[in-house]
Formats: sequence, C-alpha cells, structure tokens
Amino acid sequence: MQTDKSNWLKKVSSAQNNQELSNIYDNWSQEYDESVLSFGYNPPAVINGLVGRFIQSTDANILDAGVGTGMVGELLSILGYTNLVGIDLSLGMLERARKKQVYQDLRQMVLGQPLDFPDNAFDAVVSAGTFSANHAPPESFDEFIRIVKPQGLIIVAIRVDVAYYIDAIRGKMNTFEK
Ligand SMILES: C[S@@+](CC[C@H](N)C(=O)[O-])C[C@H]1O[C@@H](n2cnc3c(N)ncnc32)[C@H](O)[C@@H]1O
Repeated sequence: MQTDKSNWLKKVSSAQNNQELSNIYDNWSQEYDESVLSFGYNPPAVINGLVGRFIQSTDANILDAGVGTGMVGELLSILGYTNLVGIDLSLGMLERARKKQVYQDLRQMVLGQPLDFPDNAFDAVVSAGTFSANHAPPESFDEFIRIVKPQGLIIVAIRVDVAYYIDAIRGKMNTFEK
C-alpha cells in the first residue's frame, strides 16, 4: 500500500504540464478512491466538516474545484447538500465522479485559466487536494473571487509540505488582504 501511494504521488509530482498531469490522473482514476483511502487521505472529510459548520443552507450552490472522483460531493450529499457542480482537468476523474450521481453538473475546466462561469455564480467554492505543487496555481483564487457571491465562502484544503508552493499561496493571500 505504501508503495502504491509513493508510486502515484511520485507520478503526479513529476508531471511537467497540465496535459501530463491530466493523463496521470486519467490512469489513476479507476483505482483512485481505494488507493487514497488506503493511505488515510482525509481532505474531503475536512472540507465537509467546514461546509457543515459554515454553510447553513443545504440549497447552497457549491462548486467543487478539482472535483476528482467526487469524494467531497459524495460526503456532502450525505449531509444533504444537493446543489453541487464539479470541475476538473482530467476527463477520467470526471467520469468516475459522474458515476456517483451527486453532482448536478460536471465539466472539464483548468484552474489557473478563466473559468466558464458568470460573476457571482456560486454561494461557495470548495477544493480538496487540488492546491499543491504541479496542481492548481495560486492565481486560481482570482477566478474563485469573481464567481463567488459577495459574502460567499471559499474553503480550500491546501498541502503544507512544499515550501515554495505554500509561500506562493501566502503571497496571494497577502495581496487579497491588502
Ligand atoms: C489529489 S486529486 C483530489 C481530487 C478530489 N478533490 C479529492 O479530494 O479526492 C487532485 C485533482 O485536481 C485535479 N487538478 C489538478 N490540477 C488542476 C488544474 N489546474 N485544474 C483543474 N483540475 C486540476 C486533478 O485532475 C485531480 O483530479
């Protein structure tokens, strides 16, 4: 199991561009859930705890950015949230998410590029496991702010183990605070 974990993580962290990353996730998609559950992956549970705590209305429309196979939405639907949309780079991951039948809409989009949603489209954006090295860049937050309603929420679980990436995220947050 440990070998399985390090093999996949090595592959995703060695991707040179979005196309390579997408291909790796396409290949991982068939066994992704079993694989990450075997090594105790918990960001979807953390995101669900925060949504349950801060978003009262189960009608809230929520974008799951970097939806993957839909592990976040699977739990959100158990909590009663039904108005869910997911986007991801990888068509293979999106296909797995589709099978769970908990998202109203699932579309291929690239975080870090303009997103095909109008301004103020969502009550909240959530994201688990998608903000790390080689994955969604800090610039993705510019679009989150555009598509989330004023007073809406952005809830993101970010890996803290890659120093340069965390520094870049902190830099982005500082610009927003200013
Ligand atoms: C570790 S998985 C997490 C998936 C899901 N959120 C979960 O917690 O199980 C990371 C996901 O982010 C997607 N991803 C990575 N970079 C992306 C980008 N720039 N734009 C859109 N999706 C991206 C990958 O395709 C993959 O499905």
